[in-house]
Amino acid sequence: MTVYVENNADAATTLRTALGAEAVHVPGVDAAREYLAEHTDEDVVVLGSHVDQWLGFELASWLRVARPSAGVVLVRRRIDSSLLGEALRAGIREVVDERDLAAVAQSVKRVADLGRDVRAATGKDVFTENRQRGRIVTVFSAKGGCGKTTIATNLATLLTVEAQAKVCLVDLDLAFGDTGIALQLLPAHTIEDAAAIGTGLDSAALLALLTPHPSGLQVLVAPLRPDSKDSVKPETVSHILDLLVREFDYVVVDTPPSFDETVLRSIDHADLLMLVATLEVPAIKNLKLAIETLDLLGYPRNRWKIILNRADAKVGLSLADVEKALKSPASAYIPSSRDVPSSVNHGVPIVTDQPKHPVSESIRTFMRTYITATPAPAPSDAPAAEPARRGRLFRRKG
Ligand SMILES: Nc1ncnc2c1ncn2[C@@H]1O[C@H](COP(=O)(O)OP(=O)(O)OP(=O)(O)O)[C@@H](O)[C@H]1O
Ligand SMILES: [Mg+2]
Repeated sequence: MTVYVENNADAATTLRTALGAEAVHVPGVDAAREYLAEHTDEDVVVLGSHVDQWLGFELASWLRVARPSAGVVLVRRRIDSSLLGEALRAGIREVVDERDLAAVAQSVKRVADLGRDVRAATGKDVFTENRQRGRIVTVFSAKGGCGKTTIATNLATLLTVEAQAKVCLVDLDLAFGDTGIALQLLPAHTIEDAAAIGTGLDSAALLALLTPHPSGLQVLVAPLRPDSKDSVKPETVSHILDLLVREFDYVVVDTPPSFDETVLRSIDHADLLMLVATLEVPAIKNLKLAIETLDLLGYPRNRWKIILNRADAKVGLSLADVEKALKSPASAYIPSSRDVPSSVNHGVPIVTDQPKHPVSESIRTFMRTYITATPAPAPSDAPAAEPARRGRLFRRKG
């Protein structure tokens, strides 16, 4: 597959005619890095003529180390020998005149063929090799009662039982967290104990505070009393997530229905953010506001997915209306069923109680499509490891 980077709309349209409709457009070098980090099957990156030369060279140098099978084609308005020399040193494979669209297409084909040969010879990329870090999946909705806890507990169980992964569920609904009840746990410790240890908290201490579920899932449960909420500081949440992501394949985070600072930390650390809503006007309005806020904060759009829960409920809003209002399609539609509250009351997640149930199937499909089918990011690529991005969510406060 080919990705082309171009911030000028007309130039992007021209490139698209040379590269075909399947090529993926990203508007800038930062967006390209993010896209490439999440899509490991891209062989060619085309840098359009409006991309800053030095930023383009930096991207090429990074890619040469991170993904040797991928090649960069540089499109320029003017080409001279000094540009060619510098491009070569940066690891760019070909430099092409922007007016010669046939040459652009041929270069892309040559670089793609070479990429396939490199892949075949080495068998893998650095991206798929350096998997030391797990992934954080945060489940959020700006309105209460949309199904966050239901989805978080069932997804975490499914990842443990079916994907055979090492999974930790973190309950960040610090005042009213109920994952412990939903999974019928008798916790000896809660996140409050982790907060009490403070900065001295290390992996061994944190692992000792988790409550095991019979499925193999580990849970960091919420404080047992709502007034303990404030004892868990946002920095502690960041520290806990940083520790857990080194120990587990997946860390699933359940959240309260608010954009408070601890929630922002979990969103900021997330490799995947599941935005949950039901087909009700307040839920959709709040989700729309949440998306606008994430956009304002510069949160990458490819990092969140919309989940419509109780998506078949006859409440007057159609799926089409909702997706139109959100200007984005949903990535999962979970049906409404009274078996869901019944499973909660029994303390057994529906995915284990009734694996073939339509609710279980829809969570499974989401998991397979968006979580287990994509390789984990390399350590250097983790959201939490990037101070620039981590700072982004908090800058609005400063
Ligand atoms: N697909 C569904 N079909 C039927 N009932 C559901 C479904 N999903 C969730 N529910 C029910 O809706 C209620 C709220 O669900 P849940 O506790 O998961 O929401 P939440 O977003 O975590 O709420 P809160 O914001 O209070 O934490 C529960 O009684 C749950 O059993
Ligand atoms: Mg909840």
